[in-house]
Amino acid sequence: MRIAILTSGGDAPGMNAAVRAVAMVAISLGHEPVAVRHGYRGLVAGELEPLRTEDVVDILRVGGTCLQSARCLEFHEPRTRSAARSVLTEAGVEALVVIGGNGSLTGALALSDPDEAGDWPVRVVGIPASIDNDIALTSLSIGVDTAMNTIVEACDRIADTASAHDRVFLVEVMGRDCGYLAMASAVAAGADMVLFPEADRSEAELVDSVVEAVLAVRARQGTQKVIAIKAEGIETSSADLKELVDAELRVRCDDTEVEVETRITVLGHVVRGGRPSAFDRLLGSRMGNVAVRSLLDGSHRTMVAWQPPVDASDGLGERSPHDPYCHLMPLESVLAATEQLLGGQSPLARWRATVFDDMHDIFLL
Ligand code: F6P
Repeated sequence: MRIAILTSGGDAPGMNAAVRAVAMVAISLGHEPVAVRHGYRGLVAGELEPLRTEDVVDILRVGGTCLQSARCLEFHEPRTRSAARSVLTEAGVEALVVIGGNGSLTGALALSDPDEAGDWPVRVVGIPASIDNDIALTSLSIGVDTAMNTIVEACDRIADTASAHDRVFLVEVMGRDCGYLAMASAVAAGADMVLFPEADRSEAELVDSVVEAVLAVRARQGTQKVIAIKAEGIETSSADLKELVDAELRVRCDDTEVEVETRITVLGHVVRGGRPSAFDRLLGSRMGNVAVRSLLDGSHRTMVAWQPPVDASDGLGERSPHDPYCHLMPLESVLAATEQLLGGQSPLARWRATVFDDMHDIFLL
């Protein structure tokens, strides 16, 4: 069987582990992996080529994606998807692995929609890869662990200069629509507070929460070495938030006691780069393995989901016989639940928004 592989959307460290596993497991089982370069845009352009063991054996430790990626807005059009189906059919491809985030998996669902594709025989399985961890029904996506380590490393470095100068730092991290990276890395980095869109705070409440954290640290520790992590999805820009916080601190503190000089660090795409962590290499490899074996079992329009080895999936999907941690979730269910998650309506989103209330004291040591 010819099995095509593409990576799409924002790159994520560990994508290459998944590509490598799909290719090496396919070859070991006597099948032919086919690389699609530049995501859906490359698929439509016919950028397909055989993927050999020597092409992938050393990519496990490399960040980004060796297949490259692209955002492909035209894939929203049925005629573009029809062209993509023809390319795969003419190349003799019988299965496709899509490695990417919410947008990429939405494209996979549309590409394989029987109402549109008719009796198009190509089976499609998705692998969740997004540093934002913004894909539902999987406890983790590829790239999250590495991004977390990158943020923690950056915050550890910032903590040194914050201590040296007794400064407040606003550290902005990626996470387009989802505050998971900010929340989780705040705990891992020992930040003093965290701002994320799921809490739905007004601008005044955002300013007040940072000011309160600074005053609390000053009262407890006599310093103002404060690190506040802010998800990029917070509408108030970091620059505006700094000005508002400084102005409020000057009002609330007798600034002859201490110089108010909040600093900003926007980590941006640094968060997405770097060599994948051991866990992301493991996650990518295990998901790639399950994706191939599931396609060979006949799975279609599903996503490999990382679930704890207890039946936490509410009966959705099925546990993979190839790996007790992996489930095969119906792609349609994944995307419907993702829409709920991003809208802050899912139980998980609500839990995420409230869990930090309970952990408030942990931040304000
Ligand atoms: O979805 C992953 C992500 O890194 C988001 O966190 C971020 O907002 C977005 O991609 C950036 O997209 P681009 O790389 O196209 O600027």
